Amino acid sequence: MKISPVPLALLLLPLASVAFKLPFKLPPGIENLKIRFESIELPQFIRNIADPISTSPLFSLHKSLIEIPSISGSEREVGEWLANYLISKNFTVETQSVSDDGGRFNVFAYLGKNRTTNTLVTSHIDTVPPYIPYEYRGSSGSIHGRGSNDAKSSVASQITAVQELISEKIISEGDVSLLFVVGEETIGDGMKAANSLGPVWKSVIFGEPTENKLAVGHKGIVMFDVIAEGKASHSGYPQLGVNANSNLIRALYNLQNLGLPSSDLLGESTMNIGRIEGGVAANVISPYATASVLVRVAGDLGETVALIKKSVEDLPVELKFLSVSYGPQHLDYEVEGFQTTVCSYGTDIPNLHGEHKRYLYGPGSIITAHGDNEYILKSDLVEAVAGYKKLIKESLWPTKRVPSIIEEIVVIEEIVTPVSSSATVVDSDKETEEAKPEGVEPQTFAESGEL
Ligand SMILES: *[C@@H]1O[C@H](CO)[C@@H](O)[C@H](O)[C@H]1NC(C)=O
Ligand SMILES: *[C@@H]1O[C@H](CO)[C@@H](O)[C@H](O)[C@H]1NC(C)=O
Repeated sequence: MKISPVPLALLLLPLASVAFKLPFKLPPGIENLKIRFESIELPQFIRNIADPISTSPLFSLHKSLIEIPSISGSEREVGEWLANYLISKNFTVETQSVSDDGGRFNVFAYLGKNRTTNTLVTSHIDTVPPYIPYEYRGSSGSIHGRGSNDAKSSVASQITAVQELISEKIISEGDVSLLFVVGEETIGDGMKAANSLGPVWKSVIFGEPTENKLAVGHKGIVMFDVIAEGKASHSGYPQLGVNANSNLIRALYNLQNLGLPSSDLLGESTMNIGRIEGGVAANVISPYATASVLVRVAGDLGETVALIKKSVEDLPVELKFLSVSYGPQHLDYEVEGFQTTVCSYGTDIPNLHGEHKRYLYGPGSIITAHGDNEYILKSDLVEAVAGYKKLIKESLWPTKRVPSIIEEIVVIEEIVTPVSSSATVVDSDKETEEAKPEGVEPQTFAESGEL
C-alpha cells in the first residue's frame, strides 16, 4: 500500500505530540483533529477485515496456542496458559501431573462441580519438533506454524464449540468435559495417565486431523526389530564365518512378501522396513545386522503377529517386538451429515480404556501435519467448530435413538403437536434442535434432518 506523506504526517502528528513535546504549538485545527481521531469508533466489520485473527475468539485462541512451543516433553508452558484460559472462561480446571517432577500435565476442564460428564472432548497439546513460528497469510486465508494443524486446530475448535453450546444454553453442567493431554506424539503417556482421572464417559470425541471427516477407524501398529547374529571372518574364506547381512536379507525378503490380513473397512495392512544396519566392511563377513520394521495393521492383530513370526521361523534371526502394538481401531461414524474417512496413522484412542463410543474428527490434513509447511485454512477451523458442535449434540442425544416409526406417524397422520413424540428423544428438558418447544409446525419436525 502506498501512502502519500502528507496525510501520513497528519495521521502521525497527534501520536507524535503525545510521545514527545513539540517545540511549537499545534494549530487549533490539528488539535481538533487529534481529539476527533481518538474518539473514532471503527465499525466491527472493518476491524474484522483489518485484523481477522485477534478480533476472532477462535483464531486468537488458536494463535496463542501455536505461539507457545510445546514439543513433546516440554508442554508445561502451553499447559499453564491453557489452564488459565479455561479458568478465565468459567470452567473448573484440574491439572493431572504426567511427569515425576510435575512439569508436564494434562488439562481437564468441566462446568461447575460435575466431572463425570456424559461426553468427553479431547485432543493433545504437544507437537512434533522442530518449532515453527506462527504466521497468518491473508492472501490464502491460511495459518502456518508448528501445531497449526496437528493438533492445536482441534484444541481451539473443540473449546470454541463447547463455549458456543454453553452460551446457546444447549449444554450445561454434567454434559461435556474437555481433556487436553501431553505426549501424544511420542509414547502417549498423557492419555495413558488419563485412565486414572476417574470418570467413565459414554462418548469420547477425539481431535486429530481428518479433514473434517468422521473417521470410520484407523489401522493398528506392530513394531519390531529383526536381529541377525553372525560370525566375522575374512571375506576370502566365507566358510569360516556366518554372514548376518545375508540372513537379514532373507528374513526381510520373506517379510516383504508376506500377505498380511486386510479388512473391508480399513483396507490393506502395510509394512515399512524403515531402517537397516549391518556389517563392518566390504572385506569382512558381517557379524551383526538389524532392521526396524513397522506394520500398519488393518486385519486381526494376533493373526498378523503369528504370520510375521512364522515367516522367519526357519531363519537364524530373532524378532524383538516393541511394546507399543495395538490392533485396528473401529470407531463410531454413523452420524448424519458427515463424510467419512479411513486413517492410516496412530492416535491416542487405544490409550484411553473403556466402553465409551469413540469418534475421531478434526480440521486439517494429516498429509501436511508433521512437515515444514504445516498449516490450516481459516475456513477449516470454522467448519470444525460446527462439526464438533454437531458431534457433541449427537453424543448427548443420539439421533439413532428415535425409532423411524415416529417420523412415519408424524408424516402420515400429520400430528399437530409433535412435542410429545420429540419428548422421547431427549431425556432432559434441554432445548435442542431435537426438542422443539410446544407449538412447532409439524412440517418443521418432519423435515428436520436431525431426526
Ligand atoms: C460460571 O459457572 C457456574 C457454574 O457452572 C454458573 O453457575 C455461572 O452462571 C457461570 N458464570 C458465568 C459468568 O458464566
Ligand atoms: C453428573 O453428570 C452425569 C451426566 O450428566 C449425571 O449422570 C450425574 O448424575 C451427575 N452427577 C451429579 C453428582 O450431579
